[in-house]
Amino acid sequence: MVFDQDIMAAAQAVRRGELVGLPTETVYGLGANALDAEAVAKIFELKGRPRFDPLIVHIAEPTQLPSLVTRVPAAASALVERFWPGPLSVVLTKQDRVPDIVTAGLSSVAVRCPAHPVARQLIGAAGVPIAAPSANMFCAVSPTTAEHVAEQFGDRLRYILDGGPCRVGVESTVVSFVGRTPVLLRPGGVTFEEIEAVIGPLEKTEQPAGPAAAPGQLPRHYSPSTPLTLTSGDPPAGPARVGLLTLRRPAEESRFSSIEVLSNRGCLREAASKLFASLRRLDTQQLDLIIARPVPETGLGIAIMDRLRRAANQPEYRDPSS
Ligand code: TXA
Ligand code: MG
Repeated sequence: MVFDQDIMAAAQAVRRGELVGLPTETVYGLGANALDAEAVAKIFELKGRPRFDPLIVHIAEPTQLPSLVTRVPAAASALVERFWPGPLSVVLTKQDRVPDIVTAGLSSVAVRCPAHPVARQLIGAAGVPIAAPSANMFCAVSPTTAEHVAEQFGDRLRYILDGGPCRVGVESTVVSFVGRTPVLLRPGGVTFEEIEAVIGPLEKTEQPAGPAAAPGQLPRHYSPSTPLTLTSGDPPAGPARVGLLTLRRPAEESRFSSIEVLSNRGCLREAASKLFASLRRLDTQQLDLIIARPVPETGLGIAIMDRLRRAANQPEYRDPSS
């Protein structure tokens, strides 16, 4: 529950150049005044995020987009009209007033108008756009509750607005319009199919394309500290404590020390909203290994599988007995 005073206090903190934890419908963000380079530098410091990874700039109203970018192509305009406020970020050529630190030196900026009312009230009250990555340490699992944010940063983050659990649960879809044709840089809360229905064929970038194209698409990301394997195969035999992350309840439960079911009715939207919280719970169980089951790659399943593949991209689990 958030009170108006809390939002006003956080908005003033933003204006003073401080950081705030804010709810959005995708994940919680770690926000700063996007037009204040020094304030934005604090985000990189607190997150331990490399400076080559650019941030998304959040606005309160779709009409604020032209104040940050040089031009809005027709296709971008069609998408924001359809999906804003919502889980979509568009990458466009930036105006000079957007500091280089926000965009990691790129000439483009990612902009999003979130749907969460608290985020929009905060940005509106601050009177400036807010640059915000997900409010987790670099490469760790994204936060979908205010508690996750508090656990992560403790008293290093004074202002955290609690807007309840995130409705969407995976980050925004990032679409770039800086090239000749629109390119999907990150699958997310708006599905590929939904985007193509508005603007036609969409190119997908393959895995990490290097700093110039999609710096945030790091191969290892969203990772729990417990080793995670993405497989429909059997858990390893032996004494290992194995956790299971699965869409539907499995037939054989006894082999797992802990099970997280994302959506027993197989709803990928529900699964996305529970994904990061479930991963976090498994990560606190002192498991030797988390086995994640693949989900169907349609709709939000594409974003879920993207996150699971990156979460799995870490030092491999080795059976200590072998
Ligand atoms: O849902 C979300 O997008 C959340 C909430 C807080 O809004 N934010 C988020 O931010 O996920 P972050 O920093 O974790 O991810 C930002 C993504 C990265 O993949 C980054 O590379 C990409 O956006 N990005 C940002 N600016 C870009 C640019 N100018 N060109 C290409 N990619 C960009
Ligand atoms: Mg992130």
